[in-house]
Amino acid sequence: MANQKYEIGMVGLGVMGRNLVLNIADHGYSVSGFDKDISKVQELKTESGSRAIYGALKLKEFINSLSTPRAVMMLVPAGPVVDSVIRDLIPFLETGDLIIDAGNSHFKDTNLRAKTLSEKGILFMGVGVSGGEDGARHGPSLMPGGPKEAYERVRTIFEAVSAHVEGDACVTYLGPGSAGHYVKMVHNGIEYGLMELIAECYDLMKRGLGLSDEELSDVFAGWNKAELNSYLVEITSHIFRKVDEQTGKRLVDLILDEAKQKGTGMWTSQDAMDIQVPTPVIDAAVVARNLSAMKIEREAASKNLNLGIAHLKSDRGEFLTNLKGALYASMIITYTQGMALLHTACQVYQYDLHLEDVARIWRGGCIIRAAVLEEIRAAFHANPDLPNLLTDSHLGKEVLVRQDDLRAAVSNAAKLGLPVPCLMASLAYFDGYRSDWLPANLIQAQRDDFGAHTYERVDAKGVFHTHWE
Ligand code: 6PG
Repeated sequence: MANQKYEIGMVGLGVMGRNLVLNIADHGYSVSGFDKDISKVQELKTESGSRAIYGALKLKEFINSLSTPRAVMMLVPAGPVVDSVIRDLIPFLETGDLIIDAGNSHFKDTNLRAKTLSEKGILFMGVGVSGGEDGARHGPSLMPGGPKEAYERVRTIFEAVSAHVEGDACVTYLGPGSAGHYVKMVHNGIEYGLMELIAECYDLMKRGLGLSDEELSDVFAGWNKAELNSYLVEITSHIFRKVDEQTGKRLVDLILDEAKQKGTGMWTSQDAMDIQVPTPVIDAAVVARNLSAMKIEREAASKNLNLGIAHLKSDRGEFLTNLKGALYASMIITYTQGMALLHTACQVYQYDLHLEDVARIWRGGCIIRAAVLEEIRAAFHANPDLPNLLTDSHLGKEVLVRQDDLRAAVSNAAKLGLPVPCLMASLAYFDGYRSDWLPANLIQAQRDDFGAHTYERVDAKGVFHTHWE
């Protein structure tokens, strides 16, 4: 039994949970941890040293070790495990206690859980945590949502443990209900888009230009020094240098080309479709992962349909310059789509998000942290209601001045026969969004022709139907 009371508890002592416990304790807060797997509790005890950390072997002991009203954080796999942990906790909790789900739960599940728990007098928060194992240990970006009074209870701990950018904590209260988990979902959608864009650039440089892993590493390292500066570009540069200890070859070349996923990117696309916000770069990134997973079919198809990769005709230096500009423009377009989704979600789900704050807390700690987020933050500072970042004069211009790069990269890829779905989706979104006329009049005419769905006219008000034959 613990002979002192601990300020916060953690259920789930996998690497993420354990690292967050150590991080919390390093900032002077006492924390108690519990896991059904006793070996994980033992690992925590071994790692905790002289820190104010308690490892509980039984749930009851864990609950009793916490000061009241209790704050219990959980970092367990999304889905049924979350519900089962909550079910286990409920009999031990009292009115006013707080449960914090810090996993990647679906926002609709978070809403349901909040409702069920509030009927029992228990507060519930859904908190996005980004930054992987290292982030959890040394400073993640935290995306909390739920009752404001619940956030106030843990605010000082969250501010202490999160990443900081120029002294500014990468955490803020985002809004009620599932706001935090929604923002984390969109974060992951953007993450999928950026990762695929970088992978497409890799493909163009590897199969198009024939660059070696060393050269690839140098290109990404160079890109990381300027406007493309970001966590994902940085780790990409390191990845190309990693040598496999068993074979002495570059590890990246030994990894199977089948991307896995836990579903958060797909959820982003699904919800964007539901609330009718175009997020084609994110959609294309999800599709690209799905296509990559069809390895056996792709291998079979490549026997009949693969005519080989054409040879690059343009100058290598120019190709790389185009690609750099194309990646930056597409990165901005990817953030644009994510932010536009959040903008609409605020209205649909009444989240009351401040998009400047979202950009601000993504500048450090999280997987999509990038220099451009400071510019995105500034854009929302100047205009908090901006529906689309392309209408910000600075960011819009940043894309505009690189549109020829993006066109060149996409057309080079098309000529080479290399798939670049996210670069293409970025360009098509840009061209569609900036176009004051689109061929949707024909779609309306077709709908009215085959289904009497009616149409509107440019020269008269009202709704019309025509017998087309
Ligand atoms: C983060 C990440 C993380 C995510 C993994 C795997 O912000 O730290 O988004 O939460 O779970 O990156 O995601 P996928 O398995 O879907 O690629």
